[in-house]
Amino acid sequence: MTDVAPIDPPTIAPLTRPLSLLQSLRAVRRNVLEILPEAAYRQPIVSGRMSARWHMVQDPVALRRVFLDNAENYPKSQVMVRMLRPAVGDSLFTSEGESWRWQRRVVAPVFAQRNVTALGPMMTATAERATERLRHCGGQAELVGEMLSATFDVICEVALSGREHFDAKTFGQAILRYFETAGKASVLDFLRAPDWVPRPGALLSLGAVRTMHRMVAQAIEARRKESTGKADDLLDYMLKAEDPLTGRHMSPTDLLHNMQFFIVAGHETTALALSWSLLLLALYPQVQERARAEARAALGDRAAGVAQLHAMPYVKQVIEEAMRLYPPVGILARNVLREDTLAGRQILPNDFLFLPIYALHRHHMWWERPNQFDPARFSLEATRSRDKYLYLPFGAGPRVCVGANFAMMQAHIILATLVARFQFHPTAGSLPTPTMAMTVRPDTGVRLTVQPL
Ligand code: HEM
Repeated sequence: MTDVAPIDPPTIAPLTRPLSLLQSLRAVRRNVLEILPEAAYRQPIVSGRMSARWHMVQDPVALRRVFLDNAENYPKSQVMVRMLRPAVGDSLFTSEGESWRWQRRVVAPVFAQRNVTALGPMMTATAERATERLRHCGGQAELVGEMLSATFDVICEVALSGREHFDAKTFGQAILRYFETAGKASVLDFLRAPDWVPRPGALLSLGAVRTMHRMVAQAIEARRKESTGKADDLLDYMLKAEDPLTGRHMSPTDLLHNMQFFIVAGHETTALALSWSLLLLALYPQVQERARAEARAALGDRAAGVAQLHAMPYVKQVIEEAMRLYPPVGILARNVLREDTLAGRQILPNDFLFLPIYALHRHHMWWERPNQFDPARFSLEATRSRDKYLYLPFGAGPRVCVGANFAMMQAHIILATLVARFQFHPTAGSLPTPTMAMTVRPDTGVRLTVQPL
């Protein structure tokens, strides 16, 4: 049985004619998803030229080659790295080569299932606090803001064990300033201006970056002083972590940059996955009822904990399907080092690759009724029988998201708790449009009626 409703959830109209260079640059600043042509949703590969030759790759075999089999040929795009480096330095996400390899060896065990599971009770406590806030919202709420508060609460708890040394509000405002300034790719980046040319966004964001760094550094320093020797949260795990090959520990700067990345990237992406999930549940009442019945049977009056997650597979399917339609990281970009062939097309050194996860997830060759919401696509059988390179919200291969387990666990705990306790309905007015700067956000937020049960 499928759970298809007659309407399509919001999307953007694909581009039907090529854009000039100037139009492309404007689209990139307004909404990066607008650069995706109709062909990206229908063909395995689309190529063109802006200031350099570019290719958009939507073929699962070619994607496996880029992410896994020939990954060394496709380092992360320098445009993207340049946007992030002022905030997160040469941390796991932005580094390459040996610098990346040793950090990955240190960080991957930190996010092992056993450690993430041990953080479950903190996630449950934040789901309780999110419930309290929604109970007092007066019957209507803007859910992106609510979910950002909830996931930021999680990351403050698990990354920094509470807020004694950490003013979450000031930090939250600095993140927003950072996204609004440095988060937008500069025209200069796409024209390939050299690194020493100052980018206006980067200059504006410097103050926000300084505030964030000062606060994270203070929290790390406070923890070093009061360490009990026990590892209780993510920061403790990171302070103790060492490279299994060399025994090397992270320097204070490595630690600062990596924690900074976890805090910023970890909470924003997960909050968006949750906000889109709630919007879809509000638009599809039958799906919402089914998720609620499952959650209430598993939870009764309790908030969700790790122990109940296995009994709520459908709630997880809702999140997975929401991330198919609205992958929080909607487009990835890679540089090309050496000649290669992808989906039958010759790829040359210095060409530019877009990996448009948003278009891959709505591709007419790979998905039936691609623009409709149907969590049945993520039943165990359906998932097993599908090529895993057709669904890539967390990327794949050696650079796959190291926090994927963590993100899924917190999203599952929060969504199950909320759907068991509230009914969500759309409010009058138009639906939001997916808009991408760094992440895929609903442009006008997600305003819903929230009715306690
Ligand atoms: C729904 C939530 C999330 C989504 C959709 C997401 C998505 C992604 C994607 C697509 C990549 C690969 C980027 C690339 O190949 O260019 C990535 C990498 C990464 N993510 Fe996540 N992420 C999420 C949550 C988190 C969380 C909670 C953390 C940590 C607390 C995290 C930490 C990282 C790190 C450190 C990397 C870099 C890994 C490496 O290069 O070795 N992410 N993420």
